[in-house]
Amino acid sequence: MDKKVSVIGAGNVGATVAQRLAEKELCDVVLIDIVEGVPQGKALDLSEAAPIEKHDAHLTGSNTYEASAGSDIIIITAGIPRKPGMSRGDLISANAGIVKTVTQPAAELSPKAILIIVSNPLDAMCHVAYETSGFPRNRVIGMAGVLDSARFRAFIAMELNVSVENTHAFVLGGHGKTMVPLPRYSTVAGIPIIELLSKERIDALIDRTRKGGAEIVGLLKTGSAFYAPASAAVEMVESILKDKKKILPCAAYLEGEYGLNDLFIGVPVKLGKNGIEEIVQISLTDDEKEALQKSADAVAELKALLFKS
Ligand code: NAI
Ligand code: 2OP
Repeated sequence: MDKKVSVIGAGNVGATVAQRLAEKELCDVVLIDIVEGVPQGKALDLSEAAPIEKHDAHLTGSNTYEASAGSDIIIITAGIPRKPGMSRGDLISANAGIVKTVTQPAAELSPKAILIIVSNPLDAMCHVAYETSGFPRNRVIGMAGVLDSARFRAFIAMELNVSVENTHAFVLGGHGKTMVPLPRYSTVAGIPIIELLSKERIDALIDRTRKGGAEIVGLLKTGSAFYAPASAAVEMVESILKDKKKILPCAAYLEGEYGLNDLFIGVPVKLGKNGIEEIVQISLTDDEKEALQKSADAVAELKALLFKS
C-alpha cells in the first residue's frame, strides 16, 4: 500500500484498529507495543488471515519505533483501560506518562504524521501528545466524538427500529459524563429526532449514551470497549487518507472557537489529507452552550491535574 499507519499499543483497541485498516486495504500497518512478542504475534496472525480476507496490506509488529518511520498517521492507543468502578480520569497519571513516552519517538520518526489519540482520559491525553510532539493543532486529533455519536446513533436506531444507516448524530464536548449529545442535530433520514421521539425517550437515550463506556466496562469486567472505538478511529483514518473531508465530531485544540481556549474538546471538524481542515462552528442554543461550557470546565479540571505534582 502507498500509505502507512502506525498503531501504538497492540491491545484490544490497537489490534482491532490494525485488523480493520488492513481488511479495508487502507494502508500498511505497523503495530507497536511494549510487551515483547505481542505486536509481532498479532501482526503475523493478521497477515496469515490476509489470503482469506483478500487484502494485500502489509502488517509489521515491533517493540521499537524504527518500523514506524515515515508514517502518514500514528494512532496512540497505548495505556491502561478502565476497570469497573473506575472513571476515565482515574487513568490520568499512568496514561499521561505512557502517552508522553510513546509520542516522543513516534513523532520524531514521522515528523509529518497526523496523530490520532485514543488513550484515556481522552481530552487530557490529546494535550499530552500535542505538547510532546510539538505538531500543529491540525495534526493532533482525539477520537471520542465519533464513538459517542455512534453509540447515540445505535440507540436511536434500536428505539425507532430503523436502519442505523439512516441515523446521524452529534455528540460534542469532553469524553466523559459531561459529554453533550445534541438531539437538535441528530436525525433519522434527515428528520430531527425531536420530531420523532418524546423528550423522555430522548433523555433516556442521552443518558445511555453518556454511560455507554461504563455499560460495556460493567459487562466485560476486565477492560473497556474496543470494537466500536476501533471502528471510530478507522472512520477518521479513512477520511484523512482518502481526503474525504467528512465532518466528524473529534477532539480538537481550540483557540477561541466556541468561546473556548487552550483545551482539547469534541467539536465538529472537517477531516481531510491535512488532518483538521476546519473547525465547524454550529449555532448552539443557550442551554447547549451552557452544557458545552460545563463540559469544558470538566476537561480543564482534568488537564490541570497534568501539571500537578
Ligand atoms: P489494552 O490494555 O487492551 O491495550 C493497551 C496496550 O497498550 C497494551 O497492549 C499495553 O501493553 C500497551 N502499552 C502500555 N504501555 C505502553 C508503552 N509504554 N508503549 C507501548 N505500548 C504500551 O487497552 P485498550 O482496551 O486497547 O485501550 C487502550 C486505551 O484506549 C485505554 O486508555 C482506554 O481507556 C482507551 N480507550 C479510549 C476510547 C476513546 O473513546 N477515546 C475508547 C476505548 C478505549
Ligand atoms: C469508552 O467510552 C473506554 O472511553 C472508552 O468505551
